[in-house]
Amino acid sequence: MRTALVSFALFAATFPLAAADSADSTTIAEGKKLFVREWEAGKPASPGGDGLGPMFNARSCAACHKLGGIGGAGPNEDSNVRLMTVVPVDPHPSELTGHKDKLAKVHPSFVPSGKRLQTAFILHRFGVEEAYASFEKKVMDSHAVGSPEDWAIRISQRNTPPVFGAGLIDAVTADMLRDLVKKQQADGRVTGRVPPGPKGPTGEVLGHFGWRGQTMSLKEFVLGACANELGLEVPGHHQAANPLNPEAKASGLDMSQEQADQLIAFVAALPAPRQVIPADAETAKAAERGLASFNSLGCADCHVQDVGPAKGIYADLLLHDMGPGLADAVSAVSAKQHLLRREGEIDTYINAGSALKVLQQEWRTPPLWGARDSGPYLHDGRAKTLTEAILAHAGESILSIEKFAALPVNEQDDLVAFLNTLVAP
Ligand code: HEC
Ligand code: HEC
Repeated sequence: MRTALVSFALFAATFPLAAADSADSTTIAEGKKLFVREWEAGKPASPGGDGLGPMFNARSCAACHKLGGIGGAGPNEDSNVRLMTVVPVDPHPSELTGHKDKLAKVHPSFVPSGKRLQTAFILHRFGVEEAYASFEKKVMDSHAVGSPEDWAIRISQRNTPPVFGAGLIDAVTADMLRDLVKKQQADGRVTGRVPPGPKGPTGEVLGHFGWRGQTMSLKEFVLGACANELGLEVPGHHQAANPLNPEAKASGLDMSQEQADQLIAFVAALPAPRQVIPADAETAKAAERGLASFNSLGCADCHVQDVGPAKGIYADLLLHDMGPGLADAVSAVSAKQHLLRREGEIDTYINAGSALKVLQQEWRTPPLWGARDSGPYLHDGRAKTLTEAILAHAGESILSIEKFAALPVNEQDDLVAFLNTLVAP
């Protein structure tokens, strides 16, 4: 018991305070202004752009990322992002490409350049043009009716995660993740895989960010969020296309390269969450017992405490099969899909049947740092409480979760008391 107490306290003391000290404080302060800036149509931050939109999900980054402070998780369904996707009913992907024209009529983003089929995209909540509201309603109604074809249109939800400590996650290397995969293979309890990224001149780049580990780097995610969530034209990323006028081009950049760098620097410098040991001795003891069962139940097989520079992250950042209950119509990216994409082939499901099912059930283990302040939980925000989130686990985590479910309620509460010591910075 004594040694446990000591290491518990030590670990709290070694939590990193700030992620990055490479950018200077002025740059970070300017970046923060851009993160909280309420964007308006026609008012770009750099001359020549069109400001907010034409498509957007909110007016600022901070409108969604706000629980426990600027950069936190999203509070409710209003901060979820909706994805629209088409899946083959009898999984044979070649069928989908034959329906391009029909799908383009449902939503032009199914065939963005008029050529390639895109099987998943963000269905925006808002458009600058007044006519968007009725277009969006029509799309949602047609989805509700279903498709009388051999394909089905589905809507998925993505919960807003916190971005605290993002600079540390960005600094995790592919080798660190590969070592975790090897360790899991040797231990034989869980089988994570590194989210695949494209092969560049310097070797393989891993996926880091997002519920599927689908995005390579913090820079890419931040710029993608500007383009997709706020409709900003930024260096390297075009603002999301307007389905009412798919061919229209942006008039110019909404944010200069310098401003984009400032925003990235701000997010990279957001401090990591902390561990706060409860002042009252009873709760502190409960949390300590909770940490012990977190380790003994096998939660820590996936929710690994430290990954490289990300100390106290409680996530291996690998993809795991979480079972059919957590399946999503949009699948995690397979290595083969990447290959096809690179060769300019169809961007669609190439793995039929059971392989497709597994991809639909795969999620990146989310960091549990800051868990107290990041509810609702899970990729679609379906779990209101930590206990609900835990009990929704299956697939690779089934043994661990069965053990958790079999614990007396007071011991389950201890584990939750431990998770509640992990708070926003
Ligand atoms: C409408 C709500 C919303 C807005 C606005 C928004 N985000 Fe997000 N953010 C999300 C969601 C949802 C995800 C998870 C997406 C996924 O994984 O598919 C996310 C994920 C992220 C991530 C990755 C975190 C991780 O660990 O995987 C970063 C970084 C991020 N957002 C930054 C930003 C920035 C910067 C802005 C402003 C330019 C922004 N977001 C605006 C909802 C939002
Ligand atoms: C096989 C790997 C694995 C194991 C074992 C595992 N988890 Fe998870 N955990 C995940 C994944 C992956 C998710 C995300 C699933 C989703 O969003 O659909 C998750 C999500 C969570 C969440 C929600 C986090 C959030 O931000 O939404 C909590 C809390 C959690 N796990 C706690 C636990 C506890 C406690 C245990 C042990 C009883 C455990 N997990 C065992 C992989 C695992």
